[in-house]
Amino acid sequence: MNGKRTPADYVFLEKLGQGSYSTVFRAVERNKSSRNYAIKVCSKKHIIREKKVKYVTIEKDLLNNLAQGAHPGIVRLFCTFHDAESLYYVLEYVSGGELLGLLRRNGPLPEAWSKHLFAQLVDTVDYMHSQGVIHRDLKPENILLSQEGRVVITDFGAACVLSNLGQSKDEDRAASFVGTAEYVAPELLMYSQCGLGSDIWALGCILYQLTQGAPPFRGENELQTFEQIVALNYKWRLPTTPQISTLVRRILVLDPLQRPTSKQLKQEAWLSSIEWNDKAFLWKGIWQ
Ligand code: ADE
Repeated sequence: MNGKRTPADYVFLEKLGQGSYSTVFRAVERNKSSRNYAIKVCSKKHIIREKKVKYVTIEKDLLNNLAQGAHPGIVRLFCTFHDAESLYYVLEYVSGGELLGLLRRNGPLPEAWSKHLFAQLVDTVDYMHSQGVIHRDLKPENILLSQEGRVVITDFGAACVLSNLGQSKDEDRAASFVGTAEYVAPELLMYSQCGLGSDIWALGCILYQLTQGAPPFRGENELQTFEQIVALNYKWRLPTTPQISTLVRRILVLDPLQRPTSKQLKQEAWLSSIEWNDKAFLWKGIWQ
């Protein structure tokens, strides 16, 4: 691609989503083929006012280094540009909508779907973690589904790169916590600490939600939700298999070091039917 793009190179279509400091639109290139893109537009004024400059820079660098088509479960970033008001990220358009939408429409998913989607999530998180990247905001709104029903993780706006210690102390983020409380790990609430284990915690919450239709921790307000998280206070709403409930119980523990790593998750009994190295098998959509 020669030269920097500008917003005038694209036709902006409907709004796809709204983040805390960005809006995502479907767009096509002006005078070009009908290929769709998802363009994330971040207001510069808002980013500066909310002190998010660090995060938008990290998101761009991470997606540039991490994705580039290297992993099917991570949204591709094609290019970035800016004008006086905004930053623009031209992302892969993922047409099946958010996993949250699928859960809202269908309620709890059949076990075979849950297993297949969870295996794709584990494979993607394992790749991210092997690159030293913690997503820190995994939740069904940030998990998109392709047309065939494959997962694509998006929104790396809260991500960080691991320090040598494997933990990142982030009082900034803990103090300014915004967004969905339901998936936040107890160590962030209790010690302002966030590590690879925090993504694993979110995976545990998401696995529960795939099979139960709602997340494990949900109070009437954020404070109640936080209280339930640090007290590990959750109940099963629907009958589930012992393999799933055991796995969720092993993931949702307060000490992040006692949680399985992404590599260990791949060895789980419940996932023993998954051919991790057979990409065609693993990345088949649930509707294919
Ligand atoms: N909503 C947020 N990001 C999106 C993307 N990349 N594709 C489709 N919908 C989205």
